Amino acid sequence: MGRSRTNSGLAEDLLIELDRDAGVPLHRQIEASIRASIRAGRLRAGASLPPTRTLAAGLGVSRGVVVEAYQQLVAEGYLASRSGGYTQVAATMPQTVAGAGSAASTATSMAASTAGSTAQQAARSVGFRIDFGYGRTDVSQFPRAAWLRSVRTVLTTTPNDRFAYLDGRGVPELRQALCDYLNRVRGTLAVPGNVVVCNGYGQGVALLIQVLARRGARRIALEDPSSRDDARVLAAAAGLDVVGIPVGPDGVRVDALDLADADALVLTPSHQWPTGGVLSATARAEVIRWARRRGAIVIEDDYDAEYRYDRSPVGAMQGLAPEHVVYCGTASKTLAPGLRLGWMVVPPQLVADVAAAKLLADRGSSVIDQLTFADFLTRGEFDRHLRRMRPVYRRRRDALLDALRTHLPDLRPAGIAAGQHVVAWLPPDLDEAAVVAAAARHGLGIQGVGPFRIAGAGPGGLIFGYAILSESAIAEGVALLATAIREVRGS
Ligand SMILES: Cc1ncc(COP(=O)(O)O)c(C=O)c1O
Repeated sequence: MGRSRTNSGLAEDLLIELDRDAGVPLHRQIEASIRASIRAGRLRAGASLPPTRTLAAGLGVSRGVVVEAYQQLVAEGYLASRSGGYTQVAATMPQTVAGAGSAASTATSMAASTAGSTAQQAARSVGFRIDFGYGRTDVSQFPRAAWLRSVRTVLTTTPNDRFAYLDGRGVPELRQALCDYLNRVRGTLAVPGNVVVCNGYGQGVALLIQVLARRGARRIALEDPSSRDDARVLAAAAGLDVVGIPVGPDGVRVDALDLADADALVLTPSHQWPTGGVLSATARAEVIRWARRRGAIVIEDDYDAEYRYDRSPVGAMQGLAPEHVVYCGTASKTLAPGLRLGWMVVPPQLVADVAAAKLLADRGSSVIDQLTFADFLTRGEFDRHLRRMRPVYRRRRDALLDALRTHLPDLRPAGIAAGQHVVAWLPPDLDEAAVVAAAARHGLGIQGVGPFRIAGAGPGGLIFGYAILSESAIAEGVALLATAIREVRGS
């Protein structure tokens, strides 16, 4: 300030000015400048700093000066060193200027903030000590190294012309890799020409409902209870009547289907969401007979089929009647919801319409992501990842059931050993909404089954999402719930 800058250095990529006449060591000036930029918000959390060599060259100083400045700011917690030798602004600001120990805590807080990054997670985790919110996959286990290898392969080997606009069904490599995987593991009868890649199940079911409505469908049947977030809203928006089919311990009650007068049925036969039953072989055959009789379409949301812990999962219904069943899969529960990768195996008579709807919706999913996933599947990395994750989720499920047996023996866990959540039915003396509210007062996030019912009445139950909780957090959460229930019973 006011001093001559004739002897100064300036780095364009970081806007640091050095004053060589100031009598302050150069590394201290660099530190002060970067610290001030972070505090003022000019350098945001996660922003990458220039490599030390580049910054040193820009400022006309030796590399050691920049290294010293970065190291000091890492120790203070302003910066974090990343593998690969680059440096980023840390996710959280240090509360106090701490010593060398703060680097480790910064790394931990960055990991925690990445793990809770979906909007749903972020919204729900506010204010709860423990959150049994459903629908959350442990994204901290995302196979980054294997995915990176596939990205690298794709970027180094794919010719430029493949990065252009594409077929509404998706890239042929992924459609082929999905057929190989699904036919091998899920017993589907899939051919690449009938596969449509989409941005998760949510988009898949949206496209299907649009196409079915345009082709004259009037009424859609959904499991009762079932998810509120997709088919129910989409069907209503497309002008379709929605009818709920009650779900029993073995999935949807097929006897109620005939009365429903529906043109399509959405099912989660591998692991009913939320109640956790698996549709019996007899019921599957009856559903297929119903679809054939009515010329109806079954939308098979193959929810949680990857995570069966006690035995191999039952094969997909699509393999029984490829002309009447649309198979829907997603990477959201296995890799990460943020990938937005899903796939459908569509009956031949609907493929062209569904692919056209996909093109109209968004001109197709990312080619690079599709090719990456194709490579990942073909290398066997998807199988490997699932083999690694099954015991992790299984241990969390076992911890939940153990804790329920210990603290709340009169709750009745339902469903098969599968997936990432468990429903436990409440005894008749307990009101579901009162338990959910009391749990929240004790810092425990949990949802009831009631809000997911279509026709209204039914026994009270709680949905325990356990996928992102440690075994000790699960035990602590159930103990909190037991306290909340004692309070409800005492009032
Ligand atoms: C019943 C059901 N199926 C599938 C999904 C996956 O949806 P998407 O693939 O769009 O992330 C969800 C999301 O939580 C769900 O609740």
